[in-house]
Amino acid sequence: MTVIEEPQDASHILSGEANGRIWGGRAADWADIQEPQCAAAYHAVFDKVPVGSATRLLDAGCGAGMALRLAADLGAEIAGIDASEGLLDVARSRLPGTRLEQGDLEILPFEDDGFDVVTGFNSFQYAADRVAALREARRVVKPGGKVFIMTWGEPGSMQATALVAALKPLLPPPPPGAGGPFGLSEPGKLEELATAAGLAPREVFDVDSPWTYPDLETAQRGLGSSGVAFKAAETSGQAALDVAHEAALAPFVQPDGSYRIGATFRILMAEKTG
Ligand SMILES: C[S@@+](CC[C@H](N)C(=O)[O-])C[C@H]1O[C@@H](n2cnc3c(N)ncnc32)[C@H](O)[C@@H]1O
Repeated sequence: MTVIEEPQDASHILSGEANGRIWGGRAADWADIQEPQCAAAYHAVFDKVPVGSATRLLDAGCGAGMALRLAADLGAEIAGIDASEGLLDVARSRLPGTRLEQGDLEILPFEDDGFDVVTGFNSFQYAADRVAALREARRVVKPGGKVFIMTWGEPGSMQATALVAALKPLLPPPPPGAGGPFGLSEPGKLEELATAAGLAPREVFDVDSPWTYPDLETAQRGLGSSGVAFKAAETSGQAALDVAHEAALAPFVQPDGSYRIGATFRILMAEKTG
């Protein structure tokens, strides 16, 4: 997944509206090509709980709903929230009858203590105020319930770092003090964030989830469907985005013309203790 963290906004304007627009720009490509590249991470989290028929699960930043679909297939009672109407449209088609709210991670429209598990698969890092978003996750999970926060793995040991870096020259300069894409990947950072929100960090684990594409065109569409890539195309043009992706993908081409890029996600399991 091509993810660059949105800058932390010192004036604390909610990020949902702006993020919802860019993440919904290429919703079908995200749902068809890029979202499935994270499936290993979804499964690892659901195995850790484990998720089953007694689990009430909220996916915060649910996007197109693949993780929720998997949780529902395991028997969980599910709900989701995301800022992007475009991605939610896909989620609604996959999950008819499910409560799927359009809104901001910092203001969850759910009651206190209503869930056993809250997941944030590459979502909490986009909130303008991450601590506020996690306080909301803490509020809606029951005492003893778990909150999972997923972000990038450590950049030094991951091939996907090259794909993330390829977007940087195409984006507007970040505001001063903005966190980089891997700001939460450093050891201790996820625990620090969870603790600031009143959650007790329990376990950090890494999940390998390599990205695979059958050909260059599919890789460009998948990588080009993230909100950050959408913003890069708006800023620098689609042609520049495609050229940057083609160059960054070149080292990862396989003899049959397909692509395989090593990607790792880091996940913190935190608990609401009281
Ligand atoms: C990297 S995508 C991950 C989506 C999904 N969890 C997945 O694994 O495919 C980030 C998601 O966070 C959502 N998002 C970003 N900022 C948000 C905010 N402030 N409130 C709600 N959703 C937000 C985006 O709309 C997008 O769906």
